[in-house]
Amino acid sequence: MNESRVPLQGAYTMSAIREMVGSWRLTHQTVALVPTMGNLHTGHLSLMEDASSRADRVVCSIFINPAQFAPEEDFSLYPRTLAEDEALLAEQGIVDLVFAPEERDVYPFGVENMVGVTMPELSSQLCGASRPGHFDGVASVVLRLINIVSPDILILGEKDYQQFVLLERMIKDLQLSIQVESTPIQREKDGLAMSTRNQYLTADERRIAPKLHAELERVRNSLREGDQDYQAVEARASLALETAGFDPDYVEVRRAADLGRPNGMGSCEGLIVVAAAWLGRARLIDNVRV
Ligand code: PAJ
Repeated sequence: MNESRVPLQGAYTMSAIREMVGSWRLTHQTVALVPTMGNLHTGHLSLMEDASSRADRVVCSIFINPAQFAPEEDFSLYPRTLAEDEALLAEQGIVDLVFAPEERDVYPFGVENMVGVTMPELSSQLCGASRPGHFDGVASVVLRLINIVSPDILILGEKDYQQFVLLERMIKDLQLSIQVESTPIQREKDGLAMSTRNQYLTADERRIAPKLHAELERVRNSLREGDQDYQAVEARASLALETAGFDPDYVEVRRAADLGRPNGMGSCEGLIVVAAAWLGRARLIDNVRV
């Protein structure tokens, strides 16, 4: 354990956070923020590692943000494991501060009366098509966390690729002076992207789940072999997922830089294959770069 990084436990008031970060600023230390909803796994820890290699101080926020869940979604079911998360971070010694605010700290006027961020059109495509308002809720909370913590660097996972692209866009559009960095997807040995929602899978579903990543790799291979009929490739992949037992939401070939639709001309360089599919109670998302 790195003795210089001792995580502080518990929920913090706004003034305590500001004081702590302020004291780091006075000594010209840089600060990275890793926003999470807790129930930390190895995927999250890789973000903390990345953060600690990029900044002098690392703040991990843990807040299950009600504004990004639709009424029928899993907000009440979402695992709340703050004590275990803090113990894990203390054991790892890679963060300096755990910021686990209460809802009233983040939304002083209540979540239903909050001032919110409205994201551009991309937020209603891909995951946004079946989760209306989700990315507005994500952007609204991340902007609040940025305002409270005032980090130099924001660290996001590529697992939630659309979230990464949209938050990068928010930071550019609002001209916040924060560097955004992304960390690659951490996977289980069989290829399944690590996710809090994997625990919703039954044993049978867990055996099927890695087929999502395998299918995306197949799509990537056909694109690399020169296939440019994206619609046909996407339809084939969707069908294969259905046959395997998934209920696919989408499989799409997009440009990695901005998630725009490629025109099908030229090389496959810079493309990404993104997908979301239901498997039982779990909505799994994944992506591979081409
Ligand atoms: P959460 O799902 O807890 O994820 C927190 C961060 O961990 C995100 O940036 C996500 O992309 C990253 N992450 C999750 N699984 C990963 C994996 N297998 N490999 C690499 N990174 C992974 O994403 C959210 O929370 C929320 O929307 C949040 C940004 C905190 C706003 O509420």
